[in-house]
Amino acid sequence: MGKLYYHRGDGVQRRAQRTARALVWCPSAFLHSYFHPSLAVVENTVNMLWVTSPLTFFAIALAVSVAASDADTHPYVAPGPGDVRSPCPGLNSLANHGFLPHNGKAISVPLFVSALKDGLNVGADFAISVGSLAQNANPTLLQMTVDLDQLDEHNFPIEHDASLSRMDAYFGDDHSFNQAAFNQVLAYFDGSDTATIPAASLARYHRVQACETNNPTCIYGARQLVLSYGETALYLSTMGNPTTGDAPVSYIKSLFENETLPYHLGWTKPTEETNLVTLGAMITQLALANPEILPEGLTLGEGTLNDVYNLKDPITGKLINSTCALLSLC
Ligand code: HEM
Ligand SMILES: [Mg+2]
Repeated sequence: MGKLYYHRGDGVQRRAQRTARALVWCPSAFLHSYFHPSLAVVENTVNMLWVTSPLTFFAIALAVSVAASDADTHPYVAPGPGDVRSPCPGLNSLANHGFLPHNGKAISVPLFVSALKDGLNVGADFAISVGSLAQNANPTLLQMTVDLDQLDEHNFPIEHDASLSRMDAYFGDDHSFNQAAFNQVLAYFDGSDTATIPAASLARYHRVQACETNNPTCIYGARQLVLSYGETALYLSTMGNPTTGDAPVSYIKSLFENETLPYHLGWTKPTEETNLVTLGAMITQLALANPEILPEGLTLGEGTLNDVYNLKDPITGKLINSTCALLSLC
């Protein structure tokens, strides 16, 4: 096949083609092969591969660019003056890496959908439900977008007590990362490189108990319970594996403490999508791994998550009433 190539055209054409090709591959290789005859063997091999299997070259080039692209095209850039962030480490990291607008403002549902998929391989079903729910945090409802800092509104539509890495609103700041709170979670992974469903489940439950013990206004009903389980499932799935839940502790620390997607530690977004089905299955496993007694009538799983994200009562499945919403109690 290599010969076929050399039969095409005369010497001048051949030289021009070889020169162009060498320049495309690597300018220094071109110089070497031009002046160093011993590299002719290498060049012949390249020629042969080029002619026999151009598709292989495209496939390799594509694979290399896909593997490198997210880290290269979306580097971490710290938020600057005027940029806003939320009580969610996932959204903040996506904004810091430019999957969401870096200023954190005017985020529509389609923007959530593409950012969650591109940055973390989280599916459109989750992004549409939770992205739409988030729009309720914008005081100007008809705008159909939300700014990240609006998401810290206490107890409606999402922010709640017993967070893993934020203080309860009663103590002041329910928005910013809080190392002391997060250290209580990390203590459950002590001595291990990998966070697991059982350890993460106990860590989450500890934060619930801390809320109930220390916060006289602690609100932790069925809705908050489901949101909270969903958040633990989210970090285990996106930093690790959406089925097993195993996730390197160093990746989790990067997400929470630095709001950085841990490309620098070797992380790439999981190949398996995180969606309502995988999250529903994981919250069921999380609930089985701690001693918490679920409120009567509450079953966990995909349907319950869907209800909570669609502003329905997770026990009755009915739309949450406006009084409860207005009082920020649901
Ligand atoms: C449209 C998508 C999303 C919205 C609107 C959203 C919003 C929120 C909000 C308001 C909170 C605060 C809840 C609290 O009080 O603890 C939160 C927490 C959290 N979110 Fe997100 N989130 C989204 C997607 C994600 C994704 C893709 C991840 C994946 C890593 C994620 C991970 C988390 C985690 C781990 C927490 C718990 C933080 C803590 O308890 O300290 N979120 N999210
Ligand atoms: Mg909170």
